[in-house]
Amino acid sequence: MNITQEKISKIRQELKKDLFIVGHHYQNDEVIRHVDLRGDSLELARKVSDNNAKYIVFCGVYFMAESAALLAEKEQKVFLPDKTANCVMSQMAPAQLLDTVISKLKAKGRKIIPLAYVNTSVAVKAVCGKHGGAVCTSANAKTMLKWALKQGDGVLFLPDKNLARNTAKDLQLPELEQRIIDIRNNGNNLEISELNKFNLLIWPGCCAIHARFNTEQIEKIRKNNINAKIIVHPECSPELVNLADASGSTSFLIKYVAELPKGSEVFIGTEWNLVKRLAEQYKGIIQVKPLIQSSCSHMNKINEEKLLAVLERLQKATPDELEKMAIQVPELLREDAKNSLLRMLEACS
Ligand code: 13P
Ligand code: SF4
Repeated sequence: MNITQEKISKIRQELKKDLFIVGHHYQNDEVIRHVDLRGDSLELARKVSDNNAKYIVFCGVYFMAESAALLAEKEQKVFLPDKTANCVMSQMAPAQLLDTVISKLKAKGRKIIPLAYVNTSVAVKAVCGKHGGAVCTSANAKTMLKWALKQGDGVLFLPDKNLARNTAKDLQLPELEQRIIDIRNNGNNLEISELNKFNLLIWPGCCAIHARFNTEQIEKIRKNNINAKIIVHPECSPELVNLADASGSTSFLIKYVAELPKGSEVFIGTEWNLVKRLAEQYKGIIQVKPLIQSSCSHMNKINEEKLLAVLERLQKATPDELEKMAIQVPELLREDAKNSLLRMLEACS
């Protein structure tokens, strides 16, 4: 054990049940070894809201810690070891623009329900809540899209166009009823009357880390490793998902590998930290390989040193300092944003 590891273990022992450290599957091993719980976005949102520790340290990206802060009780505080760790895709849907788009559609008499991927800001979640919408994760997108389609006469799915199209395909929604909307020029390019024909409107965002995977990589594997399985995250393009053997959330990918027979070979299209961990875990049993190594630089901003620093600071901080260190949710947004998350948790309970 190195000194940093020892110090973290000591603080965990001292704080006992007052401290709950959670980590997303994309965190690197030096962080993952210190967490009380690891999971995908849905599992972490659920379990964090069930836990009553005073301090929740979230090893992941900003929107994840922000969702935990939304679901936490008033006396609980949520900390992110590096507040600049931010999902790039979550910044592709500004709340003001979303509100403008929904309001324009409403003014034309359409009841469009916004369905926001959890990879969005609290402000976007609040706009969704205000307009009767909800949140989804990659693990429950199918259930939530079905739910949203029943609430109005159309759905606006944001920000991930790939997850939207992959989920629509799972539900066998006709492609002719789907349209990626034009948000250039602050939504002024939107042709509202044109959009009347579509019941699934799609925001044009995507994840740069999953956009690095392409169909040629899959075709090459299919040629050279004919028995290999290929599995991908649904943030990959529909063209890629169609060529893969299966697709699903990070927890789905982990379960898929666990259920493969001994001696299998599997290629995975998702963030490198998770693929690397699985490759080590199954060494000599299953050959786990990446489609290509693709790392999320923001997930990788969290490291052992930053985890230790936040733990040391929270032990010494005054109540005022603690307040400043913790993730803050603006009171004005809290109720609407929380409602959009609670609708998801209720619909998927
Ligand atoms: P999961 O919800 O599948 O864990 O994915 C979150 C994410 O950010 C994938 O890029
Ligand atoms: Fe966001 Fe993509 Fe990183 Fe996931 S992998 S946190 S979607 S930037």
